[in-house]
Amino acid sequence: MSKKKIKVLFVCLGNICRSPSAEGVFLHYLEAQGLSDRFEVDSAGTSAHHQGERADSRMRAHAARRGYDLLSRSRPVAYDDFLHYDYIVGMDESNIRMLIDRAPTDEAMRKISLLTDWIPNSRLDHVPDPYYGGAEGFELVLDLIESACPHLVSRMLAEHE
Ligand code: 4NP
Repeated sequence: MSKKKIKVLFVCLGNICRSPSAEGVFLHYLEAQGLSDRFEVDSAGTSAHHQGERADSRMRAHAARRGYDLLSRSRPVAYDDFLHYDYIVGMDESNIRMLIDRAPTDEAMRKISLLTDWIPNSRLDHVPDPYYGGAEGFELVLDLIESACPHLVSRMLAEHE
């Protein structure tokens, strides 16, 4: 019998740097682990400012160097996301505040977490916004997401046994 998919939504401000990277890296990790059919994954932004755009070209270039293709297009978080997804994973405290403000129910509120909280002994407590900075910011985004992926997957699978 096929199990119900675990649904994960990654969220940042613009949905053109951090959350599309989290989506792409997480999907790549699932593929490598043979777990793609167990998860449904998407990303969204707390702002609609970049709606319809592909991921930032700098972010895509850094991701491509590590073998990740970022294919998604920016979209804002929608009301239904809070009902549909099992996990809503934000990148920084501002994302979390916006998500908590918009969560329609207590159950939806409990779905919200910070990506760095999934990394044991994380050296940072948020994924810094790379948009106005240099190359190292984009690399840091990818480092943090890569560190989080095995923990996200193993804990989510354990919670859905
Ligand atoms: P993201 O990065 O939230 O990781 O997608 C940003 C993208 C755009 C802007 C800020 C952050 N912006 O100000 O347009």
